[in-house]
Order: sequence, then C-alpha cells, then structure tokens
Amino acid sequence: MKTLALSRPIAALRLLALLALPCTVLAAENPPSGDAARGATIAATCQGCHGAHGEGVPATGGPRLAGQTAEYLATQLHNYSDGRRTNPIMSAIAKGLDAQKQADVAAFFAAQSAPYAARSVQPTPEQLARGRLLTRVGDESKQLQACANCHGPDGSGEPYATPYLAGQSAVYIASAIREWKTGARPSGALMGPVAQRLDDQDIAALSAYFESLGDNAH
Ligand code: HEC
Ligand code: HEC
Repeated sequence: MKTLALSRPIAALRLLALLALPCTVLAAENPPSGDAARGATIAATCQGCHGAHGEGVPATGGPRLAGQTAEYLATQLHNYSDGRRTNPIMSAIAKGLDAQKQADVAAFFAAQSAPYAARSVQPTPEQLARGRLLTRVGDESKQLQACANCHGPDGSGEPYATPYLAGQSAVYIASAIREWKTGARPSGALMGPVAQRLDDQDIAALSAYFESLGDNAH
C-alpha cells in the first residue's frame, strides 16, 4: 500500500519532467528496460574480456560486471556510445549496440553471480591495512572521505548510486582512478576530487584491498 501511495506524486513529477525536458535528455532519462535472455546472446561477444558470467578478465583489463546494477551498466554503455566516456575498445563496442541492446546486455550481467577471477596483485599486509583504513575512515590530513560513505560498507555498492568495488580487479580500479586524475575519464563529478587526493601508494593499497574482498563479498 505504501508504494501505491508514493507512486502517484512520483508519477506526477515524472510527467512534469517529461514535459519540461528536451528529447535528447528524455532518451537518457528513460532508457528501455532490458531483457536478460536477449542479453545472453549479446554477452557471448563480451566473454573474452569480461568472462562468460561477467567475472572479469584482469589480464585484458576487462572489469568484473557480474551483479553490478543494470542501471549502472547501461549508463556506462550509453556514456561510451555517446562519447562522454572513452576507451579505445569499449567506445567501438558500445557504438555497435543500440539503446535496447545496451539495456539487454546490462540486464544479463546484472543478473549474474559469478565466481571471482584470480587475483591480479599480491598485496602486502601494510597495503591491506592502508586500503582498509581509507575505505572505512578516510584520511583527514588529505581531506579524503571514506570510500564507504558512497560505495557502501567495504565497497559492497549502493544500488542506484554507486558501483561495488569489493572483488573488482585491482588492475581496473587503479586504471579508473588514474584516468580521473589525468582527466581522461571525465564522467566523474564525484570521483574527480577523490582521485586527486590519492597518490600512487594509496591507489595501489586501495585497489589491492578491494580486490582482496572478492572472497567474502558479492
Ligand atoms: C576486447 C576486450 C573487451 C570486450 C570484447 C568487451 N569489453 Fe567491456 N571493457 C573492456 C575494458 C578494457 C574495459 C575498461 C575500460 C575503461 O577503463 O573505461 C571495459 C569496460 C566495460 C564496462 C564499464 C564497467 C564499469 O565498471 O564501469 C562495461 C559496462 C562493459 N565493458 C561492457 C561490455 C559489454 C556489454 C561487452 C560486449 C557487448 C564488452 N564490454 C566487451 C574490454 C572489453
Ligand atoms: C562522494 C561519493 C564518492 C566517494 C567518497 C567515493 N566514490 Fe568512487 N564513485 C562514486 C560514484 C558516484 C561512482 C560512479 C559514477 C562515476 O563513474 O563517476 C564511483 C565510481 C568509482 C570507481 C569506478 C568503478 C567502476 O566499476 O568503474 C572506482 C574505482 C571508485 N569509485 C573508487 C573509489 C575509491 C577508491 C574511493 C575512496 C578513496 C571512492 N571511490 C570514494 C562516488 C564516490
């Protein structure tokens, strides 16, 4: 009953938004809903770099996708295809998928719960301790807030807001943070300032820490 009571004002707001926004924005605001069964066929072409069930293939740089929300995955594909996010491999692949196919393949990977890919780094105990501290507490001397504030406890993800990091490949996490630092990855209004405060040692510690959580999360 609660949802019913809530859905009316939300529907009214949506309608207002629809009337007010130009068509280009509408397309992004209302992506088609995805069909995981149709997505499975498309996902066969992603296997080489993301694994058959989205477990990720760190050696290729392909991140883990399994269990990431469909909204997050579809948004990233959309960002690649409209040029907001660029990567030599993924930009070309995403441009080959229309919005429906992007939604379908996103729905497929969101529904997967795959075993973890082999670890790509062997962290020292000091790195794990530093990664855990930055994740849970942050570092006031660098004005760096805890990653968990946005990414959920130990990077388990906040549905509809931020992707999970627990169990993500260290190679990919480090590369994403470096791209924000250099500006090569421009879509990070929130991550930009975080990345600027991380030096190479902290990037190595955080990426190794999150990867190590793969065995007990997601
Ligand atoms: C040849 C290797 C390769 C293939 C094939 C490939 N990918 Fe990727 N994918 C990558 C790499 C490398 C990245 C990381 C790029 C970056 O840093 O932006 C990536 C990133 C992504 C991301 C962003 C993940 C995130 O956490 O932000 C999504 C979503 C994605 N790929 C979906 C797909 C889908 C769907 C397919 C198949 C239709 C596919 N990829 C095929 C290599 C590949
Ligand atoms: C203020 C909120 C916020 C904080 C704090 C934050 N993040 Fe993020 N992060 C986000 C959002 C939102 C995204 C996804 C959207 C985007 O790509 O900008 C993201 C994305 C990421 C990604 C990319 C994941 C992927 O699958 O592509 C990485 C890696 C990451 N964050 C690492 C970190 C680390 C490490 C910390 C702590 C040092 C941290 N974040 C702190 C909001 C935050």
